[in-house]
Amino acid sequence: MCAADSRVVLGLHRSRHEPAVLREALDLGVGALDTSSNYLGFRSHETLARVAGDLLPRFRVSTKVGYFPVPGRASEHSLDPERLRAAVERAAQDLGREPDVVLLHNPEHSLSAGPEAARRERLAAACHVLEDAALSGVCGSWGISSWDPRPLGALTGDGLPRPDVLMVRSGLLVRAGILEAAELLTARLRPSQVWGMSPFGGSTAEDVWGRFDPRVFLREAEQATATQAAFRAAYRLPAVDAVAVGTDNPAHLRELVDALALEVDEDVVGQYRRLLRDAADRSEARQ
Ligand SMILES: NC(=O)c1ccc[n+]([C@@H]2O[C@H](COP(=O)([O-])OP(=O)(O)OC[C@H]3O[C@@H](n4cnc5c(N)ncnc54)[C@H](OP(=O)(O)O)[C@@H]3O)[C@@H](O)[C@H]2O)c1
Repeated sequence: MCAADSRVVLGLHRSRHEPAVLREALDLGVGALDTSSNYLGFRSHETLARVAGDLLPRFRVSTKVGYFPVPGRASEHSLDPERLRAAVERAAQDLGREPDVVLLHNPEHSLSAGPEAARRERLAAACHVLEDAALSGVCGSWGISSWDPRPLGALTGDGLPRPDVLMVRSGLLVRAGILEAAELLTARLRPSQVWGMSPFGGSTAEDVWGRFDPRVFLREAEQATATQAAFRAAYRLPAVDAVAVGTDNPAHLRELVDALALEVDEDVVGQYRRLLRDAADRSEARQ
């Protein structure tokens, strides 16, 4: 395997779950897959086992728990320890193997109301469920994945176990408040690894990508595509060890892996961070 394997995580949030892109990932040395119990209409795990059961043992598989199906509605979020425990066990059954990592999915969804002490206890109890699952071998390790980490920093403290993985948004579409909250949470939790997610904000077809040239973030831009530059910048905004990115297109995945060789200009990243902070300050002053 090449060095790419630990820095690119193939995310299945929007994926059709076709084996071709999984095979290409393995060929490219991308050895990590990220899914969730609620992806593909709550069928991601069983679908992976069915269409790619022979490939799964070759991947480091991460998944997430926190969303639950509800008849007549899309889903509901819960940090109820019993439901989380059952969801981790179900994930292992449906995948046909223990996941290497189980992440607590967007815990902020269930932590917006109530006294701070009670919210801190709920978060700690949910984390302990995942920590216990990892200790007992139902999964290899555990972590937290948060789309909006702003409410979480204040809820960390002595009662919270240290996660193996923290997953946060990364890239050029992430605003100052989210970046800073992710960095604060990283400093408080001290995870063994930080993963970025959604480097294109879910789509490379949005207008925003036509309005500027992300190659300004690279030291030598001549050989790179704008998509590669945006992907590479996502490793520095904030600083992360790996990035979970989605694609159904094997050629696109190859393009992303090739981007790992590109060098980011840290001065430009620093200037960009200052611009983001200034814009956030101005917007706060107007409110
Ligand atoms: N809260 C959470 O836990 C959470 C939330 C969001 C995301 N995530 C994780 O992060 C992963 C990625 O996030 P995401 O799917 O939201 O968005 P993303 O990775 O920012 O964007 C995916 C889109 O980018 C396109 N793309 C990728 N490489 C490309 C290339 N080289 N050229 C052109 N287009 C390209 C893909 O289209 P093609 O298929 O055409 O290539 C796809 O539509 C998810 O799968 C999941 O693992 C986690």
